[in-house]
Amino acid sequence: MDNIICPKDFPELKNDLFLRAARGEETEQVPVWCMRQAGRYLPEFREFRAGKDFFDTCRSPEACCELTLQPLRRFPFDAAIIFSDILVVPQALGMDVQMVPGKGPSFPEPLKGPDDLQRLRPKVDVPAELGYVFRAITLTRHKLEGKVPLIGFTGAPWTLMAYMIEGGGSTTYSKAKRWLYSHPEASHQLLRQLTSVIVEYLLGQVAAGAQALQVFESHAGILGPVQFKEFCLPYLRDIARRVKDQLKESGQESVPMIVFAKDGHYALEDLAQSHYEVVGLDWTIDPRSARERTGGKVALQGNMDPCALYAPKERIAEIVKKMLDGFGPRGYIANLGHGLYPDMDPEHVGAFVEAVHAHSRQLLK
Ligand code: CP3
Repeated sequence: MDNIICPKDFPELKNDLFLRAARGEETEQVPVWCMRQAGRYLPEFREFRAGKDFFDTCRSPEACCELTLQPLRRFPFDAAIIFSDILVVPQALGMDVQMVPGKGPSFPEPLKGPDDLQRLRPKVDVPAELGYVFRAITLTRHKLEGKVPLIGFTGAPWTLMAYMIEGGGSTTYSKAKRWLYSHPEASHQLLRQLTSVIVEYLLGQVAAGAQALQVFESHAGILGPVQFKEFCLPYLRDIARRVKDQLKESGQESVPMIVFAKDGHYALEDLAQSHYEVVGLDWTIDPRSARERTGGKVALQGNMDPCALYAPKERIAEIVKKMLDGFGPRGYIANLGHGLYPDMDPEHVGAFVEAVHAHSRQLLK
């Protein structure tokens, strides 16, 4: 194997603020990164992606590496997240997924009923199907030169199941929710199948060089507490427990894991006891109440409304200050409550990052 893409002898990590905060340890300043920090709000991203198919880009380790590094050349983020997508997992299971410009993801042949589960590969060869993500991680870990840690990620089972049935985004997710009510057994079968692939996928990411893992349960909010407890929580727990157990068994170092269940704060107490070190929050929850409800069991990540980046820079600094005062500077990773939008001004992203660093240094003095 080419030296440069060998998953060992990685450069020494120079900034471990993110990893320390994730473990609840002391830091000199609050670490910050943004979901979708590699994205269309950056002119260099738009230029690089122009004319190329989205998933072709995902399958090129060199392209993923370049797109991961772009935001770090502009802003002093304290973590990098590998450029990829959650929908590469349904592809690995044998489903066709396309990214339609201006529309979003589209599955030409979504799962219509339980019989369609037979269309999925019963046994996924994860290194063969998703090895390109592992190679992107290894290459990026080298090219990062130890500047900041590299985060790997996956979609959570329910969120992926919802896409596989809906065939794309939806406002009601009623096709996917119909399965939960009318085909609970088949739903659990699919969720179990996804969980197994996800566990192997995350372990492969760690072996390739990922230093932390985030699990995106983007469609938690469409469920209520009862369905969340049955169809999300057990699988989220299972993922973290199996990843940790298997890392331990194979003598590998454990990595912090983040669970981000968007709009799922009805489940905050449960999420804080699900074997994740960090719980990611969207902007609809108050920082102080999130701290109270998680009782110091986990570090928290989030949660500024992405739309606050439309405010003037001075106002962004005030909003950040309030957020930091609410969360407190320990066991805290600053982020937005969801991803950046394409029409956001990079300068305002810079103002957000700077405000987090400046105000947290004041608090920690
Ligand atoms: O910088 C990063 O955060 C890393 C890369 C990343 C992407 N997608 C790149 C991407 C990550 C972590 C994701 C996760 C992802 N993908 C989620 C979970 C997070 C969330 O938003 O809740 C979801 C639901 C998806 C599925 C997905 N991928 C959608 C709905 C879309 C279309 C959105 C749009 O704005 O058009 C994508 C496409 C996508 N994934 C883009 C990027 C940068 C934009 C399209 C492009 O670059 O051409």
